[in-house]
Amino acid sequence: MTLAQDINGRLRRVPTWPLYPLGLLPFAWMTWEAFTGGLGVDPVLELEHEVGLWALKFIVAGLCVTPIRKLTKVSLIKFRRQIGLIAFFYVVLHFLVWLFLDLQLRWGEIGSAILKRPFITIGMLAFAMMIPLAVTSNNLSIRRLGAAAWGRLHKLTYAVAALGAVHYLLVVKSWPREPMVYLAIVAVLLAARVVWARQRLSARPA
Ligand code: HEM
Repeated sequence: MTLAQDINGRLRRVPTWPLYPLGLLPFAWMTWEAFTGGLGVDPVLELEHEVGLWALKFIVAGLCVTPIRKLTKVSLIKFRRQIGLIAFFYVVLHFLVWLFLDLQLRWGEIGSAILKRPFITIGMLAFAMMIPLAVTSNNLSIRRLGAAAWGRLHKLTYAVAALGAVHYLLVVKSWPREPMVYLAIVAVLLAARVVWARQRLSARPA
């Protein structure tokens, strides 16, 4: 038995539900910091940034599942749904912090930010694309849509990751290292998909 088979065997016995409390740990920590003054001089902006960054981390983690399987034969596929839903939770939180705490429901400003500030427009687009992904992240939707259509719909994840990374780069308006690293990781993870799709096509009998 190979090491990958051994790991997969052990993973099969691991339940998926503990990922939810684990994924909520950063949120619990931020809540603690918010109530104990640990978020610095501008707690709303800090919270907005922290939850945005956790959203992107989980989106990228979800994108890593297939490459890990292809490269190491270790399959984390059973945890992908949880990772995606946790990412969605942080995006919703990020959006709500912006809406309620940052812009305090000033609808005029909210509308003009969505229409006129490219990084907000891009963030909203990514958020909107995550909604059908989150709503259909259950077995009933897979059965109703059929695996093929469901798989096509969930390719939206790629657009979400690309838009999320570009949104981050546009937020900072200069060229610091962290958003560039995220963008590079997302670009490599997406490029790998293109390569694998081409390989699949060329392996098909003519
Ligand atoms: C998939 C969707 C999204 C992802 C992955 C994401 C991620 C991020 C990240 C990583 C940051 C920067 C954090 C830092 O500097 O440490 C950020 C900042 C921000 N995001 Fe998002 N975001 C998303 C959607 C949205 C949406 C829908 C909105 C609001 C409509 C939004 C509004 C903002 C704002 C206002 C900031 C801070 C800008 C500033 O510093 O002035 N984001 N986001």
